[in-house]
Amino acid sequence: MSRRVAAPLPVALNRESADPLPRQLADSVRSAVHRGALTAGERLPSTRALAADLGVARGVVADAFDQLIAEGWLTGVRGSGTFVAAGLRGSIADGASRAADVAAPANIGRPAIRLDTGTPWLDERLRAGWSRAWRTVAAARMPAGYPDPRGLPELRAAIADHISRHRGLACAAGEVLVTAGTAHGLALALEAMPSGPVAVEDPGYRAAVATIASSGRSVVDVPVDQEGIDVESLAAAADDVRAVYVTPAHQHPLGFAMSAGRRVALIAEARRRGAAMIEDDYDSEFRYDVAPLPALAQLDPERVIYLGTASKTLGPGLRVGWLVATAAFVDDVGGRRDARHDAPPWPAQRALLSMLDDGYLTRLVRSARRQYATRSQVVQSALAPFGELSGGAAGMYATLSLTRSTAARVARRALADGVEVPLLADYCRTARRGGLVIGYGGVSDVDFASALNIVVRELRAESAGR
Ligand SMILES: Cc1ncc(COP(=O)(O)O)c(C=O)c1O
Repeated sequence: MSRRVAAPLPVALNRESADPLPRQLADSVRSAVHRGALTAGERLPSTRALAADLGVARGVVADAFDQLIAEGWLTGVRGSGTFVAAGLRGSIADGASRAADVAAPANIGRPAIRLDTGTPWLDERLRAGWSRAWRTVAAARMPAGYPDPRGLPELRAAIADHISRHRGLACAAGEVLVTAGTAHGLALALEAMPSGPVAVEDPGYRAAVATIASSGRSVVDVPVDQEGIDVESLAAAADDVRAVYVTPAHQHPLGFAMSAGRRVALIAEARRRGAAMIEDDYDSEFRYDVAPLPALAQLDPERVIYLGTASKTLGPGLRVGWLVATAAFVDDVGGRRDARHDAPPWPAQRALLSMLDDGYLTRLVRSARRQYATRSQVVQSALAPFGELSGGAAGMYATLSLTRSTAARVARRALADGVEVPLLADYCRTARRGGLVIGYGGVSDVDFASALNIVVRELRAESAGR
């Protein structure tokens, strides 16, 4: 076989990760071979050259190569270099061979690329803003004693300002409670509400369902259509339903915005039964066609408990979110947290405050919005031929409706090619919808393109009956 010289290796190392560098490098090279970015017979750079390129010790590269040689991905030919193993016939991504034909080592580990809906894209060019915030935290003196269980007063004011600018939801600092994210905010709200079942959208957000169930309440499934939660079905639900959890800005996972008419009907129904509404406004910063519809909370601030999160802008690792409700409700929740010393960690709050104050978060949102708008269009044009697509105007995922069996086959074959795509069926409880929920936030441009190619290839094969 002729041996070709590899282009610069498509690898990325994260020095802040707890994963040792040799393991990261091995993962990265394995993934490049697996998705076809490196093909059989291709020559890798020498350990010395690659170490210099990556700015790591030569031993890091040697360890990674040794590992991959042991696994069978690479071969080392003494005196002439390291090559992608000849047994890996053709590129997986170019469609020349099906994954099953490839003599891949059995233990591939995690899928190379996850098209999940929960991980945002972070503009690396803005990384200095993140570092600046944590330097501020390091330089500050942590206050003695437990933090205020409702959150730092300055942060509550900054969040109130942020959501009034981004969401048009006017609120005061006293109406904001800092949480550890949406599910935590939901759990805190449920604790302070009268007992009774909670209605949810079906299909819907799994973590919300799990949180409601673990609060000891029963969960009532309500169907969803293009306008949002079906209020007629809700009206037919048991009288003791005390709260309704909804995602009006961007129904999760179908991607529709709740229509104005449906909002009015929902509020009327909630009033009729004396129920609260819990509005999960998880990604409304990202809307590409028109400004997001006003928050439900604007229409009935006394009855709606509004939940927001930093997970979609800064990342779910920070575990910071917020709850907006009447000051009395916020103080009640704060009192319950106080009794068990549950308060938001000071460093994360202080860092978020700094990111809000110096405009980092706003810049991050602006650049991510541009990125998602572009990716959304690419996804729309690539997948539209295969079925009905929804969710393209907002957020970081699109939902392709398919039969359940087609979706399952496509997802299984994509997974064999190293791409994990969530199934719409997994978000359903009593609903019987099928499709793929394609998240395009937390992947690099290269991975996004190759994963989409793989999904399209499998959809094409499915349409062609192969
Ligand atoms: C519907 C919905 N709400 C909220 C979140 C974020 O949750 P948290 O703030 O707990 O990270 C997600 C994340 O994927 C989501 O899909």
